[in-house]
Amino acid sequence: MLRRSSPLAAFVATGLTLIVPLPAVPAHASTGSGAYVPGSAGLGDPYFPQAGNGGYDVGHYTIRLRFTPKTRHLGATTTITATATENLSRFDLDFSGPKIGKVEVNGERASYARKGQELVVTPRHGLPSGKTFTVEVSYAGRPKAIKDRALGVTGWIDTKDGAVVLAEPDGARSWFPVNDNPRDKATYTFEITAPEGLTVLANGEPKNSGVAGPRGGYRTSTWEMRRPMAPYLAMVAIGKFKVTQGVVDGMPNITAYDPSLAKEFKHLHGTTAKAITWESKIFGDYPFSSTGGIADRLGVYYALETQGRPVYDAGMADEPTIVHELAHQWFGDSVGLRSWKDIWLNEGFASYAEWLYQEQHGGPSAEKTFAEHYKHKAGSAFWKLKTGDPGRSGMFDWNAIYVRGAMTVHALRRKIGDETFFTLLRTWTKENRHSTVTTGDLIALAERLSGQNLDDLFDAWLYKAAKPKL
Ligand code: TRP
Ligand code: ZN
Repeated sequence: MLRRSSPLAAFVATGLTLIVPLPAVPAHASTGSGAYVPGSAGLGDPYFPQAGNGGYDVGHYTIRLRFTPKTRHLGATTTITATATENLSRFDLDFSGPKIGKVEVNGERASYARKGQELVVTPRHGLPSGKTFTVEVSYAGRPKAIKDRALGVTGWIDTKDGAVVLAEPDGARSWFPVNDNPRDKATYTFEITAPEGLTVLANGEPKNSGVAGPRGGYRTSTWEMRRPMAPYLAMVAIGKFKVTQGVVDGMPNITAYDPSLAKEFKHLHGTTAKAITWESKIFGDYPFSSTGGIADRLGVYYALETQGRPVYDAGMADEPTIVHELAHQWFGDSVGLRSWKDIWLNEGFASYAEWLYQEQHGGPSAEKTFAEHYKHKAGSAFWKLKTGDPGRSGMFDWNAIYVRGAMTVHALRRKIGDETFFTLLRTWTKENRHSTVTTGDLIALAERLSGQNLDDLFDAWLYKAAKPKL
């Protein structure tokens, strides 16, 4: 599912991404309506040029897999339903998972080649623009996490008694073939088979009552995410878990923690409910049909806002972190990114949610928090990167993205005033629900609601590696 937000915004954007498809190569087949050409190998993201692919738009992923923690063996079939957006002679998926057994397109064997992270699929017949097609990829072996010096460990992460997937920004390809760009959202079905006695969780809700079997010592759990989701937010968790099921604001709240984390995470269920209720008041209607959280010993030292149900590593149980990951459900998950260099739109708003939560729960005001950070001297390392374009390795820079991202949000609040600011939060999440945005879209909306020209403010806070004047 590809959805663009307002075209007007393109004119305002300072940090706009150009999509540069690879040159179209004439192909073997052609029809009256134009030549069949290969889809491009990337979508032009400046930080991740290989991630995502051109020529089609995914509507749904069905990921069926069986995992045996003892041997670390994964056997999987992923079925993709997509729509061609040009006449395709072949197309790419992103895939860095284990050995492929076969690839089928529309039920017929297709030839394929693996080149780096690209899985190049050549179907028997060209795929006409506008037509829906299915791709089925079967693969088996031991999946591996992706280790990046700047971005940490992502993808398929083995745990003592199972595995958990965390894939921001480009770890999805470690466990399923995917159009791995945040702008191609899709719905998902997960059919996960694991040894009896283990629990399986994923995004969304369990289908029917969720679990089938046992058969041969395994059980199958089916989970569905029925709202559009970016690939990096897709998650499964397999292992021993203590699960709590409840209801918050009329929807399921499903939380789980590894039993060895009971002390640290016993408040996860209640804190999740409290944060969701408060955030729905500030940010507007919650965008998904269930919530929750999962805590496990991962050794990655971060939490991730996996859609509908964030994942927390050991040591990440504090209330502000839970508020942060759940704020991402609005900022980052529902309102998604078109380009990774706008990552501050995710992290700045999620971090600002922590400041606001404090402010409204007896802690320091956001103004006070802002003032503390503003004490950093001009010329210091704190101001070194550009918040609106930090570079691939700066994507998760604490100062440039998390702190200065939140400071940018606060600077906007100071400029447009509380009433317009809180209207902006709700309008932004409402108008861009289940869609993707750019920084230009935010500037356009803030200018529309405030009637002010905000170019200088955003330029100073986002596109200068220097301390802005107040
Ligand atoms: N997006 C996560 C959060 O802020 C953090 C995160 C994901 C992260 N991947 C990372 C942080 C890699 C550092 C490195 O909630
Ligand atoms: Zn975050």
